[in-house]
Amino acid sequence: MAGRLIVVSNRIPTDSAPSGGLVVALHDALKARGGIWIGNSGKVTDSPAEGLTPIADEPYRRRSFDLTPAEHKGFYLDYANSTLWPLFHHRADLMTLDQDAARTYWEVNRKVARLIAAEAGPDDMIWVHDYHFLPLARALRLEGVENRVGFFLHIPFPNVSDVPALPENKYLPEWVAAYDLVGLQTVRDVSAAINVLRENGAEMLLKGRMKFRDRQFRLASFPIGIDVDDFAEAADAAGDADRTLRLDPGEKLVLGVDRLDYSKGIPNRFAAFGEFLRTGQPDEPRATLLQIAPPSREDVEAYRDIREELEEMAGRVNGEHAELDWTPIRYIRKNIPREILAGLYRRADAMLVTPLADGMNLVAKEYVAAQDGADPGVLILSHFAGAAEQLDAALMVNPYDIGDTSRAIRAALSMPEHERIARHLSLIAAIREHDIDWWTTTYLDALATAGTI
Ligand code: UDP
Ligand code: G6P
Repeated sequence: MAGRLIVVSNRIPTDSAPSGGLVVALHDALKARGGIWIGNSGKVTDSPAEGLTPIADEPYRRRSFDLTPAEHKGFYLDYANSTLWPLFHHRADLMTLDQDAARTYWEVNRKVARLIAAEAGPDDMIWVHDYHFLPLARALRLEGVENRVGFFLHIPFPNVSDVPALPENKYLPEWVAAYDLVGLQTVRDVSAAINVLRENGAEMLLKGRMKFRDRQFRLASFPIGIDVDDFAEAADAAGDADRTLRLDPGEKLVLGVDRLDYSKGIPNRFAAFGEFLRTGQPDEPRATLLQIAPPSREDVEAYRDIREELEEMAGRVNGEHAELDWTPIRYIRKNIPREILAGLYRRADAMLVTPLADGMNLVAKEYVAAQDGADPGVLILSHFAGAAEQLDAALMVNPYDIGDTSRAIRAALSMPEHERIARHLSLIAAIREHDIDWWTTTYLDALATAGTI
């Protein structure tokens, strides 16, 4: 029997939780190809179910495991999201370090490895996703699993100068080397990973291969993409956004869509929009910034802080500029379903994607897919989004430079039609070239042949 594909990630699609890029992309990848997707049920309980619980069989099989309150805290809240996430997003200053959390992280990886070892047949390929499961292949090898195991990191790889801030940094090479193929989002991430691994004793071989002790593995970039037609159709089918938003037909709309995360650069964006309003000319049409920011990881302190900061900033900018009939920043702290988002993207004259660090940023690609090619809006994109490696026809900005971003907003809103169309043609070609099918097929082909070429 041909082997199956087993995908493992912490977050899996559920009815309740807002998703984020990993779930959106893997859902699109698996709905076409089938497979088994194993992840965290989201249930935090003192008596976790033994083994894996079936949650769905169509369009692909989904199986879940539960965590105890102590596991949820140590593994998810503390180590994954208060230690690794800030470090990997170049915010070592926000890291919290806790030996108990590091131990729980490893123990949860061992527990999940045992569940997978019990599920996997000898010919199955195992594809592990994201920073929650960096040591999973190492744990699988300890269970005697010899299958091909691949890893894909959805977030940036940390810089070599930051990695010593992680007390467990000495384990990184053996965690990584237990995989057969390590996929990263960008060329920049691959060179950061090579630097970190070499610094810690791994050796560079030919063709992107590396060696650590007795194991060889391959490192390469596979920029993740979206189902372009699916998104374009959703934008075509979406209702009248002017009516949803109660906007006048000619009114300029600038849009931001991000999980409420400090890596997304939302305060810088609000400051830039404030600057744009302050430097506005009397004859310029009015522009509103609509910021959608569903709350994320609210049990982690840094996320509560960013939420407070934003509410205060929106209040300040609105206090300075609002009129009786106009609120300049409309800030929605809710998850908005994709079908409605697609219509908002289509309506927006400019889209602000200004992260300080981001693995890829699917929102940038979704915005491009949702445009009407005859009258497209303008994508304003941070150099620090992984998407910047492919979407260089966007208006590129340095999100730390408030003046730069404010000038880009003005340039976007007054950009002549021929330039908007030319930029859009280049952007749409880029997202079609590296779409979700390309990503899945290229990665899995590389995993299937890893070690043989
Ligand atoms: N998203 C959504 N509703 C929202 C906000 C975001 O469905 O209110 C989706 C968005 O369409 C995108 C994903 O969440 O598919 C966010 O992915 P991205 O790569 O931009 O960022 P991440 O959240 O993974 O850091
Ligand atoms: C990013 C991460 C994913 C994560 C998502 C949502 O996309 O790369 O691994 O699932 O954010 O975050 P959450 O903590 O809610 O799963």
